[in-house]
Amino acid sequence: MKYSSLAYAKLNISLDIVSKRPDGYHNLKTIMQSIDLYDEITVKCTRGEGIKIETNLPYIPDNSNNTTAKAVNAFFKHAGITNYNTNLQINKNIPVSAGLGGGSTDAACVLRILNEMFKTGLKHKTLEEIAGTIGADVPFCIDGGTKLAEGKGEILTDLPKIPESHIVVCKPEFSCSTPELFSRVRLEKLRARPDTEGLIRALGSGDINGIARRMYNVFEDVLPNGKADIESIKGILLDSGALGAIMTGSGSAVFGLFTDIDSATVAYEKLKENYHECFLTKTINTTAPVKELEE
Ligand code: C5P
Repeated sequence: MKYSSLAYAKLNISLDIVSKRPDGYHNLKTIMQSIDLYDEITVKCTRGEGIKIETNLPYIPDNSNNTTAKAVNAFFKHAGITNYNTNLQINKNIPVSAGLGGGSTDAACVLRILNEMFKTGLKHKTLEEIAGTIGADVPFCIDGGTKLAEGKGEILTDLPKIPESHIVVCKPEFSCSTPELFSRVRLEKLRARPDTEGLIRALGSGDINGIARRMYNVFEDVLPNGKADIESIKGILLDSGALGAIMTGSGSAVFGLFTDIDSATVAYEKLKENYHECFLTKTINTTAPVKELEE
C-alpha cells in the first residue's frame, strides 16, 4: 500500500501567550493560517516491522525523533495495528526551525494518510486528539485553514476564512529555539499584546486591512538575537507594499501579507538578493487530498 499527500505550512497571524501552565507548557491564543508552501510525503506500508525515513535533507532526523515516526507509532497504537513496516519519504520544501510548522504538518499529513490507507475512518476530532500527543501545533495541521488555537494549541475553533492573500515568507540564517523563547517570556513585561478579538472581527467582515493591522507576535519582544534581521526583513516587506509583516511562531521566518501580486513579487525579488530561503506563496483554506499510488 502506497499513498501520498502534501503537508502545508502554517503561519501565526497573531500569537499571544496567556499564562504559564503547571506542566511547563504555556496557554496560547494564536490565530493560525495554512499557506501554499508544502512538504511532499509518501507512505508505503508492507507486512513486517520498523519505520524507515528518507528525506532530501541530510540534517533531518531519520529516527524515532522525527515527528512522522511519532505519528506512525501514535496512529498504530490508537488503531491497534501491528506488524506493519512503514517507509516514509519526505521531500522538504518548508524551511526547518522557522516557525512554519514543518515537522508538525508532516506528522499531521502522515496521520491523514494512514487514516485513508487503513480505512480507519477516524474523524478530524479523533485525529486531532492523536496529533496532540505528538506536538502542540500538530492538531491545527489536521484540518488547516484559518483557526484560533488555544490551550497548548490543541483547542481549535474555526474562524472565517481569510480573504485570499499573497504571502511572502523569508527565513534569515539564524534559528530560534522554541523552548528558549518561551522561557524568556515574562508576561507582565511584554511590551504589547495582540488584539485577537479585533482580529477575529476583522476576519468576520473580510477586512484585510483590519486583519493586517492587528497582526502581532509577542515572541518578537523576547528574541535573544537576530532582531535586526527580523526588522530589516519586515522593513523590506512593508516598503514593498505589504499590508502587515510579522515573525511567525517562534521564528525565525518573517512573512508579509499582500493583496497585490506585483508588490509581493517586488518584495520577494528584493529579499532574494540577501536571503537564501524566500517564498512567494498564498493563503490556502484546505488540506491536500490523499492519493493512492501504484507500487
Ligand atoms: O509541542 P512542541 O514539541 O511543538 O513544543 C516545543 C516546546 O515549546 C515545548 O517543549 C515547550 O517548551 C514549548 N511550548 C510551550 N507551550 C506551548 C507549546 C510549546 O511552552 N503551548
